Amino acid sequence: MDIIKPYTTRRVNKSISFYSLIEDKMKVLVATEKPFAKEAIAGIQEIVETAGFELILLEKYSDKSELLAAVEDVDALIVRSDKISAEVMAAAPKLKIVVRAGAGYDTIDTAAATERGIVVMNTPGQNSNAVAELAISMMIFMARNQFTPGTGGELKGKCLGIHAYGNIGKIVAKYGKAFGMTICAYDPFITDLTIFENDGVEVAASVEELYAKSNFLSLHIPSTPQTKNSIDYDLLMRMPKGATLVNTARKDVIDEAGLAKAMTERADLNYVTDVAADSQAELNRQFGTRVFATTKKIGAESAEANINAGLASANQIVNFFRQGDTTFQVNKIN
Ligand code: 3PG
Repeated sequence: MDIIKPYTTRRVNKSISFYSLIEDKMKVLVATEKPFAKEAIAGIQEIVETAGFELILLEKYSDKSELLAAVEDVDALIVRSDKISAEVMAAAPKLKIVVRAGAGYDTIDTAAATERGIVVMNTPGQNSNAVAELAISMMIFMARNQFTPGTGGELKGKCLGIHAYGNIGKIVAKYGKAFGMTICAYDPFITDLTIFENDGVEVAASVEELYAKSNFLSLHIPSTPQTKNSIDYDLLMRMPKGATLVNTARKDVIDEAGLAKAMTERADLNYVTDVAADSQAELNRQFGTRVFATTKKIGAESAEANINAGLASANQIVNFFRQGDTTFQVNKIN
């Protein structure tokens, strides 16, 4: 199985003391409410134990108290979408590093981590293909009436809008092209436009223009204070007739009231999501087959993604303790 290589330059923080001389066995906890594939756990275990550390597993826990008890004595933590709050960190006096096996770290209180001197990392790119494949499959599912009888539509010839051209957006663009779609993207953080040119992707001048062009719009923005509720009535009303919004990103980037209003006023709009809205039951009741939500986020639920992200997490922890490698650190300390 391919392990995706880190794509950034290696970063070593000399100010972080190395832990290799500490005699106690480092304890690495994998705490996943949504467990990794077995093969991923086997790989993590091998990396952790080869480094001389101890692996502790807390999988499928259902109550925060289990997490609070499990972190008590650990030096490192590997998580998925698990909520790592200030309370969890306070219960873990030895904790030095948290690695989010995945891309989005909105579930981790990075400010609290910084305050406690805890390094937070993610594993960018490691589960992107799984999410991209799901996004494309959701487009087909909606275009084909949720796989029920009746005339549907095709992806070929349609405009696929990519909102945020990061690791996932780039793969979705590539797959969309393979289906004969034209690709348009918007990413305010990419100033080097050759990145789009080289991929044969048109750049939208504004987010409004992107939505106005997109028959299918695939969302790949992170959840931040700036993006929360940012996909609103105004943007959705700009979409072409029969458009479908595909959300494999985060639920809170959607202004749910705005979405419901737009879908009420526009009987042609469709919404498919891997991150069910708070008001999903109501959306389902109101809009029937024009909406679809998975019951639990499955974007990164492939063995390949679990192995890539899980093993990357374990390697990042070992490299951090052994060499002070902070390449994928997302919070600033000092
Ligand atoms: C991510 O941010 O990497 C994805 O949303 C996957 O999340 P998961 O690990 O909870 O499946």
